Amino acid sequence: MTWERLAALGDALVRVGIALGCLFVLWLLLGAYLSRRRPVAYWYGYGFWFLLWRMRRTWSRLTLNADLTASERPNTGVFGSLVVKGRPLRPAVPLLIKIRPRRFGATAVVALQPGQVPQPFIDAADAMAHTWGVHAVRAAASRRGRVDLTILRADPLGDSSMRDLRSTSPGAAVPVAVPEDLCAEIGNREDGQSWVLDLIALPHWLITGATQSGKSTLINAAVAQWAARPIALVGIDCKGGMELASLAPRLSALAYDRAQAADLLGHLVTEAERRMALCREHRARNIWQLPEHLRPAPVIVIVDELAELYLIASREQKDAALRATTNLLRLGQLGAALGIHLILAGQRVGTDLGPGISALRAQLGGRICLKVHDPETAKMTLGDLHPDAVDAAQLIGPADKGVAITTADHFGWVRARSVKFTDDDLDQAVHATRHLTPRIPGLTPPADPPVA
Ligand SMILES: Nc1ncnc2c1ncn2[C@@H]1O[C@H](COP(=O)(O)OP(=O)(O)O)[C@@H](O)[C@H]1O
Ligand SMILES: [Mg+2]
Repeated sequence: MTWERLAALGDALVRVGIALGCLFVLWLLLGAYLSRRRPVAYWYGYGFWFLLWRMRRTWSRLTLNADLTASERPNTGVFGSLVVKGRPLRPAVPLLIKIRPRRFGATAVVALQPGQVPQPFIDAADAMAHTWGVHAVRAAASRRGRVDLTILRADPLGDSSMRDLRSTSPGAAVPVAVPEDLCAEIGNREDGQSWVLDLIALPHWLITGATQSGKSTLINAAVAQWAARPIALVGIDCKGGMELASLAPRLSALAYDRAQAADLLGHLVTEAERRMALCREHRARNIWQLPEHLRPAPVIVIVDELAELYLIASREQKDAALRATTNLLRLGQLGAALGIHLILAGQRVGTDLGPGISALRAQLGGRICLKVHDPETAKMTLGDLHPDAVDAAQLIGPADKGVAITTADHFGWVRARSVKFTDDDLDQAVHATRHLTPRIPGLTPPADPPVA
């Protein structure tokens, strides 16, 4: 090769190098712009690829250090005349597959090695979040032999860019309720999905939270949507109507004290029995299998301050409290298939409310725990179903209004935040839909709200 050709080649290489360098600088500048202006685009174009590289690079060390490896050989062996036990030298690392970018971060799947179970991976989720430098990792076992990882790049509940739900409420009402009517979208979940209360999937809910934690806001956001559909809403507010009075125009009944609550719940039990007979007669297993012209309106019973029904100050109150709580439990047991649903809210739920509270809780599959002051309430709300969620609930700070730990499909539980729903929004929703209030046999719609 002549010197000229070598020089020309060197020249070309320098030019290619300069061009690549320019492209690299451009790429960095574009990244800096996107990370500030377009976080989602930045995530898809840059952030996710860094995370992918980090996950691939650290996976085998992570599984080794967090004891997530299996072994291809037994951990005991014969050494001379001794049986020795130890850690095999060549651990088998579970496979990390299907790493996909998502708006909220990424999802991935761990394929378990023979002999492995999901629990250690669920326990090691925090270690993964630290290793990969992301906000949180949730691990859930939805299929045999697989653990699904949901990786959250940032805390999606921290910002105030929440969806406006007012516009998502269906405007026109349909004459007969359909199961979808019982879903209300009330906020955002940490994994980027919307937070939906679905009373078909989970018919009854327990909501706990200290005063000012966001219970009423969350319930009102749901009520505003249910109000626009052919659903009967029933209120029990033994604090003299302070909490639920603003819903009165759209309520099919409202009880202001324990005695009224006992009567109201008694009528609902009778209604449940009537619906049961109707279903039996038409060989339906629930109201949704009834022909449309016979299908009764679903009823949602909202109790604000559950403890008021249980705690009694005098002997005379004992009878009403017993009737109210027995009927409530009965509705919990019967209601789901008959279209009668319970939404029970309280500041404190503990065993001091009496033995009935645990029986009632067993009927409430849906749980929401907002900021609570005592560990017992967090334990009562979540501990029996999701023991690992109790700690997460206690980490909710007093300033995290509307942030909650809630029951969620295959994850078991998830952190979520309700939308900020104002009193004005509620008044508007209630007044626009008051003509839709269904009549339920035995119940009288509230006259005027009591004097405040
Ligand atoms: N998701 C939320 N985002 C922002 N602020 C909220 C949210 N939920 C509740 N708040 C605010 O917190 C305060 C207390 O809410 P409220 O629902 O009345 O609590 P509670 O019924 O538990 O006493 C209200 O001022 C409300 O505006
Ligand atoms: Mg309240």
